[in-house]
Amino acid sequence: MPTASEFDRQLVVVTGAGSGIGAEVAREFAGRGARVVVVDSAANLAHAVAESIGATAVVTDVRDRAQVCSLMADLDQAPDILITSAGGAARRSALDVDEALFADSYQLNVGGFWRCTQEAARRAIAEQTSLSVVNIASSLYRGPATDLSHFAAAKGASVTLVRCLAQELAAHNIRVNAVVPGPVETPATARVWDDNPDARSTMRAKIPLGRIGEPRDVANAAVWLASGESNWVTGTVLRVDGGLDVAD
Ligand SMILES: NC(=O)c1ccc[n+]([C@@H]2O[C@H](COP(=O)([O-])OP(=O)(O)OC[C@H]3O[C@@H](n4cnc5c(N)ncnc54)[C@H](O)[C@@H]3O)[C@@H](O)[C@H]2O)c1
Repeated sequence: MPTASEFDRQLVVVTGAGSGIGAEVAREFAGRGARVVVVDSAANLAHAVAESIGATAVVTDVRDRAQVCSLMADLDQAPDILITSAGGAARRSALDVDEALFADSYQLNVGGFWRCTQEAARRAIAEQTSLSVVNIASSLYRGPATDLSHFAAAKGASVTLVRCLAQELAAHNIRVNAVVPGPVETPATARVWDDNPDARSTMRAKIPLGRIGEPRDVANAAVWLASGESNWVTGTVLRVDGGLDVAD
């Protein structure tokens, strides 16, 4: 793993850092000496996480181009690292997904990654600095995904976009990779699983490594993909799923 000093003074922007996986990613980088910008649309969450790890909070809705432009323009330099973890979607059966939910899932899960990466890349190119981007997608990105077809489709598009951007931006010394997590214990999954007492044990039973993931599992992968230790890696899709993809 990268050493504690590797990220000293580096500027790391983490979206969706007010909760769950994004918060753990932000905490991990801050603990390794990075200057972390905690980005979230929920002001209370962004400020609480930033305060707890000695980072800066910026309240931004990644669905909004103007807000993302302000976020990137107001940084004191181009970011060295961008982690896009803002995402999620309400559960709805495929036949009941309406135009609004479908569009919003795209705006957040692929659009948020797209516009943050585009604006960060423009700034890095203008300042002739390198940039490493890690998109937190989902192991559902290839489907099927009961009651989450709109989410899986958007995450699938985001993984395709990771590969496209990796190819187009490599000449600018910009790397773009994806982590695709399996089921991870976070406030988002607790909201679903807490309503169903069997949900966790059913899920655990499907995972070859015998446990549900922790945010730390995903953060460790994101840190490695963002770091110089992976500097010949771009356009890759790293599964962090306890072996779910190779389950019987
Ligand atoms: N938890 C899992 O099992 C799991 C599995 C696969 C993928 N993921 C993905 O990992 C990422 C993080 O998930 P999590 O479980 O930590 O969720 P979470 O709900 O705990 O955290 C997501 C954060 O994103 C923020 N956010 C939502 N919409 C936003 C917007 N428009 N602009 C800015 N911030 C916004 C929320 O306020 C929240 O703080 C998501 O992209 C999710 O799809 C999670």
